[in-house]
Amino acid sequence: MTTTTTAPTELTLNNGVKMPAIGLGTMDRKSPERIPDAVATAIAKGYRMIDTAASYRTERQVGEGIDRSGIPRAEMFIITKLWLTQYGYDHTLRAFDASLRKLRLDYLDLYLLHWPVPSDFPATLESWRALKTLLDEGRTRAIGVANFGANHLKTLIEHSGVTPAVNQIELHPFFNQRALRQTNARLGIVTQSWSPLGNSVRMFSAPEELKDPLASPTLADLARKHGKTPAQIVLRWQVQHGLSTIPKSINPERIAENINLFDFALTDDEMAAVDALDTGKRSGPDPGVVHAHTFAFKLED
Ligand code: A2P
Repeated sequence: MTTTTTAPTELTLNNGVKMPAIGLGTMDRKSPERIPDAVATAIAKGYRMIDTAASYRTERQVGEGIDRSGIPRAEMFIITKLWLTQYGYDHTLRAFDASLRKLRLDYLDLYLLHWPVPSDFPATLESWRALKTLLDEGRTRAIGVANFGANHLKTLIEHSGVTPAVNQIELHPFFNQRALRQTNARLGIVTQSWSPLGNSVRMFSAPEELKDPLASPTLADLARKHGKTPAQIVLRWQVQHGLSTIPKSINPERIAENINLFDFALTDDEMAAVDALDTGKRSGPDPGVVHAHTFAFKLED
């Protein structure tokens, strides 16, 4: 993949809708009560995109933070996701209404299927049909998927004739998803990184395997050279690859740090050095085999 030293602050989706390159992630199972402050702080610091999901159970807190910020709705880009126990056409439409209500919104910017369910792909397809209805009705400005592999994308597009605008996937220096990024790009799908700072490695690894991507000496060297932090090097590497990214933080200093990426550039060699940290090993669940029981929680309707 060719690299470039420029980094767009905004990406154009395949239906012409513009999406900020960087947004705030809000998955926080430990302290969801801090999300409204985090969202309001992020908006004050210049973020215009917030990512949540029904399964994070932070939609209410995101809605509160947006309200508190006083920002005009039209300036924001809000993403949420349909949980896989809500798949099926009618169930999806009801789940969408519930998400909007919790978010205190009357339309969404991007609605995603949270996972493919390979063991019951017809249900995944029915939900995708419902998302297309929501798009056609103008209730969401764009639709997409998360955690879809190349085979899932192929089946989805063949059956529906509708290409997702975005595929949000686990992506960080230890798992940089080069092949899937190329597939997404070939199909005109924007790749968006979840766990961009590699928190999934810290979350899911066995203690003996635990390695923190942010502690990599390569990133420390680059950080020193550019007068930035390892997190800023990682996020700059992503936006410079033309990706969208959604680092999660509830800490005001780190929220500000994570969007301060547009006053420096990595050289081609530096981009290649970060690329070379890839281990080829995902740390989150394998989308090829997920189903409701993969996850250790139940979603209330
Ligand atoms: P906190 O919310 O206390 O800032 P990811 O986006 O990869 O899932 O990573 C999120 C995790 O990384 C959270 O634990 C978050 O903690 C932490 N984090 C967010 N921004 C930074 C940063 N700039 N430097 C170090 N850790 C960060």
